[in-house]
Amino acid sequence: MTPQPSQPSPSSGKPRILSGVQPSGILHLGNFFGAIRQHIALQDEGECFFFIADYHALTTVQDPAKLRDLVHGVALDYLALGLDPRKTAFFRQSDVPEVTELAWILSTVTGMGLLERAHSYKDKLARGISANAGLFIYPVLMAADILIYKSNVVPVGQDQVQHIEMTRDMAGYFNQTWKKVFPLPEARLDKAPVVPGTDGKKMSKSYGNTIDIFAEGAELKSSVMRVVTDSTPVADPKDPDKDNVFALYSLFASPEERAALAERYRAGGLGYGDAKKMLIAKIDEAFAPARARRRALEKEPDAVEAALRQGAQRANAVANQTMREVRAEVGLKS
Ligand code: ADP
Ligand code: TRP
Repeated sequence: MTPQPSQPSPSSGKPRILSGVQPSGILHLGNFFGAIRQHIALQDEGECFFFIADYHALTTVQDPAKLRDLVHGVALDYLALGLDPRKTAFFRQSDVPEVTELAWILSTVTGMGLLERAHSYKDKLARGISANAGLFIYPVLMAADILIYKSNVVPVGQDQVQHIEMTRDMAGYFNQTWKKVFPLPEARLDKAPVVPGTDGKKMSKSYGNTIDIFAEGAELKSSVMRVVTDSTPVADPKDPDKDNVFALYSLFASPEERAALAERYRAGGLGYGDAKKMLIAKIDEAFAPARARRRALEKEPDAVEAALRQGAQRANAVANQTMREVRAEVGLKS
């Protein structure tokens, strides 16, 4: 495949920035620091398309009421955290059903080998999850999500980078088999591409090791108290670089605060329980405004729906145009 530079989107000259998050559970600090924080920050830097990946979530959530609740919850979370629906097209993946048509077309130029090499699929098999075909072709639908909007930049956490490389491959196969329709997208990582969970492994909804963004009070306390630490006695010096509480605290702290806590670890006399209290205080402080906004939005389900509908209209306008071009190029009705 010949690498091709990604191109600015035709309409505005600004890069087109797109990302999705699955409504497969409650959003956590890993989602925030890996993905959502950059999504919110990028709203002024390009033409942004952010969506709730409900088709993808169907590979694991098969209770309709639960799926609807989770989708609504993710919408509330994003709006409360600062997503501005006037700037950004914010929508449900399934509001643009053509994306499944593009996934089918891409699947016809995608080798089985490419999909078999996907880490996230292999990890799920290794954890004993019985795979449905949807889980296997998940990266093809993700490629369709990215390509249907001719996206240039895809802000995600580290675990999604391989899927974006696969998207570049699929775009290349399409462009070679038919005509050059798609720019090659690039992944964008934040400063904290992998946030550790309470057990020290990658924080993930599917590992039961999360601290949720909107947890507060007793719930927040119990998640933070679960963070695994070693058994160094309170009086002894501790190594901040090997501690999960310190790693999580660092996400919120200024460089000075981080250095001050590291100093206290090394000096001895600070218990992990105290460090956990400091972490809870940081989480409370960081998310207090978003919690208040979320509580207010909970009372306005119609406004949330309206924001998603408006986003879907913008997304459909772009997707429909791409699909007319794709159908014409591959020889389907157009
Ligand atoms: P999960 O692993 O909990 O199911 P998702 O796969 O839905 O999370 O991820 C949504 C976004 O959040 C993706 O861009 C992903 O890369 C990012 N993300 C998820 N977990 C982490 C983590 N522990 N650290 C950094 N980014 C993460
Ligand atoms: N697979 C992503 C995740 O689990 C969600 C997703 C679906 C996505 N389609 C996308 C992310 C397109 C970026 C671009 O987090």
